Amino acid sequence: MDDISITHKPDEASGTASLANTRKVYVKTYGCQMNVYDSQRMTDSLAAEGYSPTDTAEDADLVLINTCHIREKASEKLYSALGRLRKMKDARAKEGRELTVGVAGCVAQAEGDEITRRAPVVDLVVGPQTYHRLPQALARVRQGERVVETEYAIEDKFEHLPAPRKEQTRSRGVTAFLTVQEGCDKFCTFCVVPYTRGSEVSRPVAQILKEAEKLADAGVRELTLLGQNVNAWHGQGADGREWGLGELLYRLADIPGIARLRYVTSHPRDMDDTLIHAHRDLPMLMPYLHLPVQAGSDRILKAMNRKHTAADYVRLIDRIREARSDIALSGDFIVGFPGETDEDFEATLQIVRDVTYAAAYSFKYSPRPGTPGADMDDHVPEAVKDERLQRLQALLSEQQYAFQRSLIGKTMDVLIEKAGREPGQMVGRSPWLQPVIIDVHGGEIGDIINVRIISTGTNSLVGVREMETTSDGTI
Ligand code: 5AD
Ligand code: SF4
Repeated sequence: MDDISITHKPDEASGTASLANTRKVYVKTYGCQMNVYDSQRMTDSLAAEGYSPTDTAEDADLVLINTCHIREKASEKLYSALGRLRKMKDARAKEGRELTVGVAGCVAQAEGDEITRRAPVVDLVVGPQTYHRLPQALARVRQGERVVETEYAIEDKFEHLPAPRKEQTRSRGVTAFLTVQEGCDKFCTFCVVPYTRGSEVSRPVAQILKEAEKLADAGVRELTLLGQNVNAWHGQGADGREWGLGELLYRLADIPGIARLRYVTSHPRDMDDTLIHAHRDLPMLMPYLHLPVQAGSDRILKAMNRKHTAADYVRLIDRIREARSDIALSGDFIVGFPGETDEDFEATLQIVRDVTYAAAYSFKYSPRPGTPGADMDDHVPEAVKDERLQRLQALLSEQQYAFQRSLIGKTMDVLIEKAGREPGQMVGRSPWLQPVIIDVHGGEIGDIINVRIISTGTNSLVGVREMETTSDGTI
């Protein structure tokens, strides 16, 4: 759940051309990939209502803000965006042109009615469990109602939302996200997710396979399975047995056309043997795992309700590395959780040294209203959090830099995703998710080619094509 802010680009090939120029929707997405996926689902369900996507609010008849509540300032950000929209709406009213404003996502779920009370500009509030009701909600807005839809729906929203299409994918159709699980029952004491996204729900196997096959048919080569707690996914397999994520990955690996699999985000407690074996047995399961530990002190891990110790985590990493020696890890860390002493923080630095990360996200603890952490004693002063974050990030950057440097001279499979800026240049993805700039003529989007790395940036790689067959047989 890395923190990104993505604007939904118009989807030229969305098949709604005949309805274009009727009404336009602009979706602004904050937060994790789950929100990116949801924004696309909402855009799709609105296409059926005659809305075509646009990438500016000025151009839109409907603006939807898909919010994230995971860390602080989420509501401040939302209310300042709504302030700007209010001005736009007022200006339009003078021209006799309408603007409908909706708030979706986790802040919508958490604050519901409060949003319509505080921001009269808002016509519509929808929580993540009710996106499939968006068209009906909009119809009610058109009748003059202000709508708040944050009840947990009994019906399965995935059944009611349109299936994804090739074009909505992360990069020109060769990579795609597929949500397999939502919500969380872990109740880490710092986290709002169990409250905003609700308890854990896994999508059924048949539904996932159908969506994956459809994406493969449309030319998708890399699938990233999404879930707040993706490795807690479980379901009844085709063989009648209860499957975990490992079994699901073995099955997805059989889908023709799919050449790469990934999954995000995982909890250490749900890394079962089958999932670890999948890393051993499936070369197409990319050797890059986001496995947050949050802190290195057992006392803090206990207070966070992570239900594992630092030693448990390190042992787990050892087992995963035994299964797949080239695996690289990324993690999430929180500094300044209530009660964290200098010694506790040192333990976080130590676990980072012991594990070694290729990439990481690190945050200052931010008390989330309604979570147990917010009510704990001994909150850490902001200045101390700042200083710890700086030290942790310095160490993590060093490790990221070392990982980047370690790839120079190595060859690796790269999935070509798009044309580069210069003529003859392409941009692809390494197995470890880095963008790779390749000076290559003749490579096609969707090809997996063998590349030798010649230099690196902070996160990107630069390579040249090696003229040999790659592991999946493409040249
Ligand atoms: N304060 C700081 N960081 C948080 N995260 C989640 N909740 C909080 C919080 N209250 C971080 C965790 C999580 C990531 C998505 O965001 O590290 O893994
Ligand atoms: Fe939040 Fe913990 Fe659930 Fe992750 S596992 S979503 S951090 S409660």
